[in-house]
Amino acid sequence: MSNALLEKIKKKEVKVCVVGLGYVGFPLLELLIKKKFHAIGFDIDKKVVDNAIKNGVPATLNDKEALADADCAIICVPTPVEENHRPNLEFVESAAETISKYLKRDSLVILESTVAPGTTEEILLPILEKSGLKQGDFYVVHCPERIDPGNKEWTVQNLPRVLGGIDEESAEAAFVFYKNVLDADVVKLSSAKAAEAVKIVENTFRDINIAFVNELAKSFDEIGIDISEVIGGARSKPFGFMPHYPGCGVGGHCIAIDPYYLIEKAEKSGFNHRFLKLAREINNSMPKYTVKKINKGLNMAKIAVNGSNIAILGLAYKPGVEDTRESPAFPIIQELKKWGANLTIYDPYLPDLSDVKTLDDALRNMDCIVIITAHEEFKRITPEKIKENGIKVVIDGRNVLDSNNIKRLGIIYEGIGR
Ligand SMILES: NC(=O)c1ccc[n+]([C@@H]2O[C@H](COP(=O)([O-])OP(=O)(O)OC[C@H]3O[C@@H](n4cnc5c(N)ncnc54)[C@H](O)[C@@H]3O)[C@@H](O)[C@H]2O)c1
Repeated sequence: MSNALLEKIKKKEVKVCVVGLGYVGFPLLELLIKKKFHAIGFDIDKKVVDNAIKNGVPATLNDKEALADADCAIICVPTPVEENHRPNLEFVESAAETISKYLKRDSLVILESTVAPGTTEEILLPILEKSGLKQGDFYVVHCPERIDPGNKEWTVQNLPRVLGGIDEESAEAAFVFYKNVLDADVVKLSSAKAAEAVKIVENTFRDINIAFVNELAKSFDEIGIDISEVIGGARSKPFGFMPHYPGCGVGGHCIAIDPYYLIEKAEKSGFNHRFLKLAREINNSMPKYTVKKINKGLNMAKIAVNGSNIAILGLAYKPGVEDTRESPAFPIIQELKKWGANLTIYDPYLPDLSDVKTLDDALRNMDCIVIITAHEEFKRITPEKIKENGIKVVIDGRNVLDSNNIKRLGIIYEGIGR
């Protein structure tokens, strides 16, 4: 391994380019600047670049300006799935093509995007070798990002990381790099493949556990048990139980997507992930289950769905953010429109996509309200407020409202498993 690169990293003289400045790349670039690295961001979207510059971090649309001098390129581009749930690697491939045009001997390329095990070696490396350099001339590493946008406690700066390289020299270079950037532990694994698997396992663990409680919610709805009470009881056990919560659907760019990367990879290698597929199927069924609950609630109130006034509270896939990727709000809205409901959409984090400006406006003259996102503002809706607005039916897609007191006021309440 070239001592020159390690020396540059330690002295913070290494020139870094962050490729892709979204939820992952932008905070990383901000941290690099804060830690006094020579860093610049590169993105293909002008709005994103303009926004970065407005926020005081250097960024450009010009790949040459960003990458010609770079000793280290960090890829943070999206890894979505297609309609048929097939992984789409086009962004990783195009970012790699761009980097390969400028790749230098002894430089380091890090892939932070979530990918299937094997991608760094089998897809990224061959594209980088189009530069004319060969493995050993440069260093390649996968270091999956774990950032949880909106989480104030765990940030890009203090979250521990794992990484693995295509060879030991690569892993060591990236290990020294991240130790100089982060205030967190960095765990070096034996291969890029192992690091890729870590990230997918973390998110698949969440997906499977959420599917488990979603299935319990459906079963408890039939038996007549409140799942919130049961999870509250079970979590009093100090070991061996980790609470997960049911809801109207799993969204976001990670949990709803990453399992498909492993499913496809395993399929190509001859293994069928029945358990993971079932978890995805159960979680994907929750928006329809929520619509079933809306139909049930309105039916109990003797109101036809067709022509009913329904407030959709929340478009974001999780509380406190404006990210709508894979949000269950969309299939629920689509289904209700098909049934002829009049919808009023409100999300305080997404004023441009909302029909009204305030929660009070959203509640006025509604037959039914549906909580899709557990934003703080929605958690504070009181039974009295619901009553005052003449709302007949409450569908609590996140089980966050005071069900007993709502029912006590004669309002129909349906949660997910309660
Ligand atoms: N969002 C999260 O919470 C999160 C958390 C951990 C890991 N991840 C993973 O990180 C990766 C990035 O996710 P994100 O949420 O930041 O995505 P994002 O969509 O917010 O941002 C990606 C950016 O990359 C840019 N881009 C696309 N192709 C490019 C190219 N060829 N060259 C330069 N820029 C390009 C896009 O314009 C966009 O600004 C994904 O693999 C995701 O799974 C995301």
